[in-house]
Amino acid sequence: MIKYKDNLYKMMQDNKVQIFDTTLRDGEQVPGCKLDTKQKLVIAERLDLLGVNVIEAGFPVSSPGDFKSVSEIAKIIKNATVCGLTRAVENDIKVAAEALKFAKYPRIHTGIGTSDSHIKFKFNSTREAVIERAVKAVSYSKSFVEDVEFYAEDAGRTDNEFLARVCEAVIKAGATVLNIPDTTGYCLPEEYGAKMKYLRENVKGIEKVILSCHCHNDLGMATANSIAGVINGARQIECTINGIGERAGNTALEEVVMVLKQHPYLNLETSINTKLLYDTSILVRESMGMPVQPNKAIVGANAFAHSSGIHQDGVIKNRETYEIMDPEDVGVTESAIILTARSGRAALAYRAKKIGYELTKVQLDVAYTSFLEFADKQKEIKDDDIHAIMKVVNKISKIVMA
Ligand code: KIV
Ligand code: ZN
Repeated sequence: MIKYKDNLYKMMQDNKVQIFDTTLRDGEQVPGCKLDTKQKLVIAERLDLLGVNVIEAGFPVSSPGDFKSVSEIAKIIKNATVCGLTRAVENDIKVAAEALKFAKYPRIHTGIGTSDSHIKFKFNSTREAVIERAVKAVSYSKSFVEDVEFYAEDAGRTDNEFLARVCEAVIKAGATVLNIPDTTGYCLPEEYGAKMKYLRENVKGIEKVILSCHCHNDLGMATANSIAGVINGARQIECTINGIGERAGNTALEEVVMVLKQHPYLNLETSINTKLLYDTSILVRESMGMPVQPNKAIVGANAFAHSSGIHQDGVIKNRETYEIMDPEDVGVTESAIILTARSGRAALAYRAKKIGYELTKVQLDVAYTSFLEFADKQKEIKDDDIHAIMKVVNKISKIVMA
């Protein structure tokens, strides 16, 4: 029997929120995002460096390729727990255990749907039979590894009293982590938080396990729901880089990590080296060929870009007027001042100085008139355009180079 991390019990009692990354499993399920083993190994190593606590490396029984990826990742990862997904099916569990056998810290992630909709339409079964299958899956997983996470699929739409019964039964069977997925992204933050609180208050043995948030983004609430979950006692968040995942995606790792960092009074910490967030986002975006929307929080191209005159003037005077975090904290070198027809004199003078032109007030007035003519014709003014504008100004009045 392989031991799980010695400090697991310590971690679940304090203010540390475990980051469980599922980019290589839930994220990779997205059509077009398929990765080969080599690409997965590069991403897994980067996630380990980033400081995630758990890497869900794949669903080993799903294909020989996925089995190989999980097994190769298990061999090389030095710090994080490596996890493999299974259904509550003996063969899935056996195959996952085989794939994980070389992991320093292996975890089997097994589970079953618990909502009435899943029980009736997916399994044509009953609540009692589902509890029995859940318990069997956890007990069987425990015969291979100590660290067993149980997921109650569609927990978001599962009746809380029944969910509590399932949780109690799988804790008795030895589960170490209880994953409460909002599989369809339906819950409101208050509702999801209340679910965690209910489980903490009504499940015997709950203090022995880590409660985990796994939220999908169908209504754009995955991050808010995960945060509500940890405020109400969960100590693990399952998430993906750039929020990729089924349909509208999973909780974005970079978002939850930065929410906790920027709100220190919550007294909840992660072990993520946030300065690596931007580069990791680029690595995942490029390996999967999955673009990131420009207005995506934290890692989108416009996340630290300012384009209106009023905002630019404020940011040039003091970054904190319009930025609630330092771009360097997430690995972005600096805020961007984008010059458009909405920009003011302050932004033009700022950019001109950056590329070498120190303008007097009169020169700036002349330059600004010419700038607006350029800007009305094109979406954005680039440095080459500024050089052209400065040639016009120089003819009237000699500019001192900065
Ligand atoms: O969304 C979900 O319910 C899942 C489980 C398989 C953990 O991804
Ligand atoms: Zn999921």
